[in-house]
Amino acid sequence: MIKLRDIDVVFHDEDRVVTAVKDVNLDVEKGEIYGIVGYSGAGKSTLVRTINLLQRPTTGTVLVNGQELMGLNARELRQARKKIGMIFQHFNLMESRTIFENVAYPLRGSGLNKKEKAAKVAELLSLVGLKEKTDAYPNQLSGGQKQRVAIARALANDPDILLCDEATSALDPKTTSSILDLLRELNEKLGLTIVIITHEMSVVKDLCHKVAVMENGHILEQGPIVDIFTEPNEQLTKEFIDTATHFDQEIGMVLAHPETQKLNREGILARLRYVGVGTTQPLISTLVREYDVTVNIIYGHIEILQNTPVGNLLVAFTGESENIKKAIEFLKQSDVKVDSVSDLLEEFVTKED
Ligand SMILES: Nc1ncnc2c1ncn2[C@@H]1O[C@H](COP(=O)(O)OP(=O)(O)OP(=O)(O)O)[C@@H](O)[C@H]1O
Ligand SMILES: [Mg+2]
Repeated sequence: MIKLRDIDVVFHDEDRVVTAVKDVNLDVEKGEIYGIVGYSGAGKSTLVRTINLLQRPTTGTVLVNGQELMGLNARELRQARKKIGMIFQHFNLMESRTIFENVAYPLRGSGLNKKEKAAKVAELLSLVGLKEKTDAYPNQLSGGQKQRVAIARALANDPDILLCDEATSALDPKTTSSILDLLRELNEKLGLTIVIITHEMSVVKDLCHKVAVMENGHILEQGPIVDIFTEPNEQLTKEFIDTATHFDQEIGMVLAHPETQKLNREGILARLRYVGVGTTQPLISTLVREYDVTVNIIYGHIEILQNTPVGNLLVAFTGESENIKKAIEFLKQSDVKVDSVSDLLEEFVTKED
């Protein structure tokens, strides 16, 4: 659906040359929700704006729906852009016009008559749950409602793609979550392909199928969110994931607890991680039964990512060390990652002495 190839965007600012995007390749499939994360200045907005050529790349190609956008003339590009909606952090509504007029605005020149336009706007407003606000003005709406109007407006020409640049950054957590629900619903109901820029990994976790992590104009890492969340390769990705899961902090607090310290002296602490295994329960009981070890689950956290359970457990093994070794081997063979917690112990426990 969207294919970006070898994209560079270079700005010439007075005496400075800024390479905002460098060597980017990105594929977004139809019906996918694709997240772009990165710190401020990473190049996220610049990159996403190349998808509808709001920003022309310095080099590279932009293919949308099989069409090479850079080769289109002005009229063809206007047509192509109608199929790519966009929403922003600050909604960009026209304050002096009613909600109806804001949503109807992209329909000028659509060939629809007055009655058809009114029907289309009513349909869009009911899709975003704002039918009763037709005659209100933007300043009479909350931030979340304004973003809903912006979404309705962006969908006026039945686009295949919706680009969202920090669309929830100005909203509180509850409103953010209701806007994410709406985006998910639009994705499922209309098959809308969504590219969403955010600096919040929790947004990615709750909504996206895939994610790309950007730094200094480059994409450092990209892929399905279950893969990225369970096996991040880059330090920056790990940082972002930690902000969404808080797992390291939580496990650190548990490790620092005197009871955990006692278990640490008596046995072996380990961190177990697994993806998609229905549950570790049968595994744990097998360990106890077959290997004659005791397994204490000290902390457990299960995330559901894209309908896939992703488990993080902190356990203490006690028993004969030969048995513990065999038990750990068995876990590894059952696709459970078993890691030592020494790095976390160091970070969270010894520091406090
Ligand atoms: N029109 C422009 N002219 C010159 N430099 C620009 C222009 N637009 C962006 N830049 C620079 O390109 C880099 C990437 O900017 P961009 O806005 O894409 O980052 P971002 O990841 O969206 O950041 P934020 O999270 O703050 O929105 C920055 O260094 C920025 O200053
Ligand atoms: Mg930006």
